Amino acid sequence: MKAFLVDCFAAVMRTERSALSDDRSLVELGMDSLIAAEVTTYLQRELDLTLYPRELYDHPSIAALSSYVASELDRMHPAPSAPTAGRSSEPATPAAPAVAPDAPVRPAARPAVERLPGIAFILSSPRAGSTLLRVMLAGHPALFCPPELHLLRFDTLRERQRALGTSYLGEGLIRTVMELAQLDAAGAQGRVAAWLDEDAAIQAVYAWLQALAGARLLVDKSPSYASRLDTLERAEQLFDGARYVFLHRHPYAVIESFVRKRMNRLVGADADPHVFAEQVWATSNDNILAFLERIPPDRAHRIRYEELAREPERVMRATCDFLRVAYDPAVLSPYSGNRMTDGVHHQSVAIGDPDFLHHTGVDSHLAEVWRDIRLPRALGEPARRTAAALGYELPVEASAARAHTVEARAASQRHGPRESFVDVRGLRLCVLTWGSDDAPPVVCLHGILDHAAAMDEIAQRLVRRGVRVIAPDLRGHGRSGHVGAGGSYHLVDFVADVDALARTLGPAPFPLVGHSLGAVIAGLFAAARPGRISSLVLVEIALPADERPVAAGRLTTHLDHLASPHGHPVFPDLAAAAERLHTIMAMPPDQAAVAARRLTEPCDGGLRWRWDPRLTTRAGLSLGDVGSSADQLRELLGRVRCPVTWIHGDRSDLRRTARPVPDDGAREVVIRGGHNLHLESPDELAEVIASALPA
Ligand code: A3P
Repeated sequence: MKAFLVDCFAAVMRTERSALSDDRSLVELGMDSLIAAEVTTYLQRELDLTLYPRELYDHPSIAALSSYVASELDRMHPAPSAPTAGRSSEPATPAAPAVAPDAPVRPAARPAVERLPGIAFILSSPRAGSTLLRVMLAGHPALFCPPELHLLRFDTLRERQRALGTSYLGEGLIRTVMELAQLDAAGAQGRVAAWLDEDAAIQAVYAWLQALAGARLLVDKSPSYASRLDTLERAEQLFDGARYVFLHRHPYAVIESFVRKRMNRLVGADADPHVFAEQVWATSNDNILAFLERIPPDRAHRIRYEELAREPERVMRATCDFLRVAYDPAVLSPYSGNRMTDGVHHQSVAIGDPDFLHHTGVDSHLAEVWRDIRLPRALGEPARRTAAALGYELPVEASAARAHTVEARAASQRHGPRESFVDVRGLRLCVLTWGSDDAPPVVCLHGILDHAAAMDEIAQRLVRRGVRVIAPDLRGHGRSGHVGAGGSYHLVDFVADVDALARTLGPAPFPLVGHSLGAVIAGLFAAARPGRISSLVLVEIALPADERPVAAGRLTTHLDHLASPHGHPVFPDLAAAAERLHTIMAMPPDQAAVAARRLTEPCDGGLRWRWDPRLTTRAGLSLGDVGSSADQLRELLGRVRCPVTWIHGDRSDLRRTARPVPDDGAREVVIRGGHNLHLESPDELAEVIASALPA
């Protein structure tokens, strides 16, 4: 694992493997939120492991991260246990068994057994009304439709046990065994415990369930199956001629319900619940759509939840036809008779929808609730694509898109930006300006590997308040000049460029805004030239987490970087470059398309980034290299005489770094969003910046 992570970080940070010793702090080596995001994308792709950037900061060395990743991998994809021999105790008398009910529940990981006949699956995202559909079908005498089994993903029952752990998701199987073998809770638990002792193969458990269900068709509804395509594919490996009922529901209703029921906590997810719920809705439905593409049409059937709730009889008649059972009106009375809607024990949470028993019949008004739901933000592109594939109307996104187009057109006619070039300390810097030349200036400095145009959304809003926004592409970035083969990017050079630019603005003090690295530059400049700045705004300032002074090892790393400059990747076209910006910086697709045009230049084989590849090594950018540790910078900022506003995102990985200024030295403002607040929350950010401008 260590070697794999070293390769991963070396590739992403474009550094030598030798620089990445086990215990060196990755933050000290230059890991920032951009790199963290790229590493998590890499791990997702290579290891199928979703790791959040925060977890990288919590384990900030190769040694710490590798044992953490190894344990997470183990938890997520446990290795199959070694087979052991054994027999299950025999079940109660089965009818028409597909497999003899007293046959041993076979131990083995990935058993090479024949595919089982006769099963149907209900596939859906969570909160799509799957409990309702299951319970409706459970009333049909020719179907056996138990609570959620959560079996399909695993090879053996022990593997399932390890993954589900102490969550109540394991209870559906016990409730099912109670029903089929006519056992009480303790008896069914004992039965499942015996299978666990024997390391029963999952396919054998299915065979046992089918045997006891007798002539009834087993219908397995477990929303967890749709979270992974390979789990869905196992249905075809384990069963012959399986049938699939695809139940889907409007994303607004699913996401709102998911968040309200705190489903992210059920799976232990730490991410923003709305973002997570949206991802779960889109991924589940995408996986089902992709899976069903390969299934013959006579084995797949779609149900739109909204139609099920509005016209239950029509939908259930069609579903019975599909399952090849005669229509039975009992399916329309989900609250009558025993349909396993209770838990294993009296006090157990009901399996499936915990609120199912709060209703008394099929509640048609729930079909329409999505129309009144206002999520805190518009759906992202992937969820919008899925909604389009499923034929769902998205009124909020449609009107936002219209408003955005109108506003963008109007804004671009009114406010620029205008591009100009100035010679600064031997380099040509590109400077963008928004607003009238007579208006008082506000200077904005962007972050590492970003560019001046990224401030557009903020600048447009500030200009409407009567100011002129001036944002340079920092040296080596955007359309500004590069230092050349013999140079490097030292923090003091960026500060000196700002010093030179400031002289072109005349003697009056001006407000200075910086994001990330730009905030560090802004802070150093304000500290060094106290009379020049009237208000200092530090957005997501990137202080080093490690307080130690510059070490010889870091200097060696920087020398290594400078000795072997790396090139840029080559993109086939603008769309690929835009996709990269969208993925890595979470830039909205329309902005990523505009930024990709500005940030790329032609090269052999396509396009490459226009910024200087030396910047990706971060050589020279560490605060330690200008002789100031984070503490020293804090001390410098404490001496700034103008008002200071420190802004950070509530979901930012940098949020936990210590205050950049003494307690009483700055107004602190928290905004909803991550590191790139200028992209994620432009309205709020512009509002706070505007409030920090001198009257
Ligand atoms: P809410 O309770 O949040 O509205 P699932 O079973 O897949 O988890 O889906 C749960 C959702 O099914 C519920 O979410 C509810 O909207 C819907 N549902 C539950 N019981 C229902 C009923 N009797 N009639 C109509 N819809 C029902």
